[in-house]
Amino acid sequence: MRIAMVGTGYVGLVSGACFSEFGIEVVCIDKDEEKIARLGRGEIPIYEPGLAALIVNNARDGRLSFTGDLRAAVGTADAVFIAVGTPSRRGDGHADLSYVYAAAREIASALAGYTVVVTKSTVPVGTGREVQRIIRGMRPDADFDMVSNPEFLREGSAIGDFMRPDRVVIGAESERARELMQRIYRPLYLIETPILFTGLETAELIKYAANSFLATKVSFINEIADLCEKLGTDVHDVSRGIGLDGRIGRKFLHPGPGYGGSCFPKDTVALVRIAQEAGVRLSIVETVVEANATRKARMAEKVIEACGGSLAGKTVAVLGLTFKPNTDDMRESASLEVIPALKRAGAVVRAFDPEGVPEAKRLLEGVVWCESAYGTLEGADALAILTEWNEFRALDLKRIKSLLKAPVVIDYRNIYRPEEMAAAGFRYTSLGRPSVEPE
Ligand SMILES: NC(=O)c1ccc[n+]([C@@H]2O[C@H](COP(=O)([O-])OP(=O)(O)OC[C@H]3O[C@@H](n4cnc5c(N)ncnc54)[C@H](O)[C@@H]3O)[C@@H](O)[C@H]2O)c1
Repeated sequence: MRIAMVGTGYVGLVSGACFSEFGIEVVCIDKDEEKIARLGRGEIPIYEPGLAALIVNNARDGRLSFTGDLRAAVGTADAVFIAVGTPSRRGDGHADLSYVYAAAREIASALAGYTVVVTKSTVPVGTGREVQRIIRGMRPDADFDMVSNPEFLREGSAIGDFMRPDRVVIGAESERARELMQRIYRPLYLIETPILFTGLETAELIKYAANSFLATKVSFINEIADLCEKLGTDVHDVSRGIGLDGRIGRKFLHPGPGYGGSCFPKDTVALVRIAQEAGVRLSIVETVVEANATRKARMAEKVIEACGGSLAGKTVAVLGLTFKPNTDDMRESASLEVIPALKRAGAVVRAFDPEGVPEAKRLLEGVVWCESAYGTLEGADALAILTEWNEFRALDLKRIKSLLKAPVVIDYRNIYRPEEMAAAGFRYTSLGRPSVEPE
């Protein structure tokens, strides 16, 4: 069994490495020559826990390789996965399918022998059918089947998610394609992973519906957190109180500064557009998109308020830049809205992130970049925690207090306890819980 993975990004690289761990021979392809060269030297272009070892071991055993030569890799593959990006198209929020269609054309010219062409990228309903049409149009002779196999892994726990998923969704139309996909996912059958076979379009829609539902859950608890702040109640108790109801479930009920990352923002907007084109209004998802954008835009106000209404001449220390811990992915991160807003309000911003700084430097200007959590705090008038990296969870409170000019902490991830912060002498603001003053 041989797989060609077209697109070696967060999804392609993890999926390729994990399939090779299943014992399959995998060639990962990317048009980014520098990325391929780095992988060839054993350098891992992204931060994802556990990924480096998986790549090194499987490359050493000859099951995993990297190339820029799509033709050779596709020509010998039993299955070709498309895992290229599908970002939001500028202007209208539709998924930009230019990378998918370009990949389809390249694949078409390289197909040889029976091949299953699989979309792993998140693509609007009808895209698989269009890829099939493109390939068929260019290569009427080609022996291939089209499959949709959306990916549900989360950055930061991608390998565990891929190796032990809640489910695998496979949209396929021929028995031959279903059988080949079953062979690819055989190790997951052995651990009794639910494998859901559907049609092409249904598989495509499942991915968007899943992400939009999760984004809705996050936005729901974020709004309940706003209400808790006004009512003097604790959002964590509310989350637990509702989450223990099996119909609701406990996960994704943690408030934050608004969802970000490479998926929820673009996928919610894309689903709204898919529905509009089908003549259906998804008013709930539309509202979620709007609520999240508004939330992110006003998150900096918490710092301004905690600092007494003005940031003119003040310095704010920001810990955490990535959209969540255990990744270096900065796409749509709350820090990209909060930091510019703090600067517009007159603050000098000092910032640190364990993995995100190189990418953050490309996206944010005029920030004082720091080398460590404690170093960031020196001389700052307030500390804002934006991402819940483990190393920020157990900072020495006495040391924080001695480094800050004023004992003001704004915790956007609720990683500290209000009572503990008050007792340690901080003015402490978090989400969905009463703010506290120093005891
Ligand atoms: N990142 C996630 O957590 C996640 C999770 C589930 C699904 N997805 C979906 O998976 C897809 C990929 O996401 P990603 O985060 O891995 O993107 P990414 O931007 O990290 O990677 C995409 C890669 O594809 C390469 N590429 C583009 N066109 C190519 C071509 N014609 N030939 C070869 N390589 C090409 C790019 O150079 C890039 O390295 C998207 O549709 C996304 O929505 C992402």
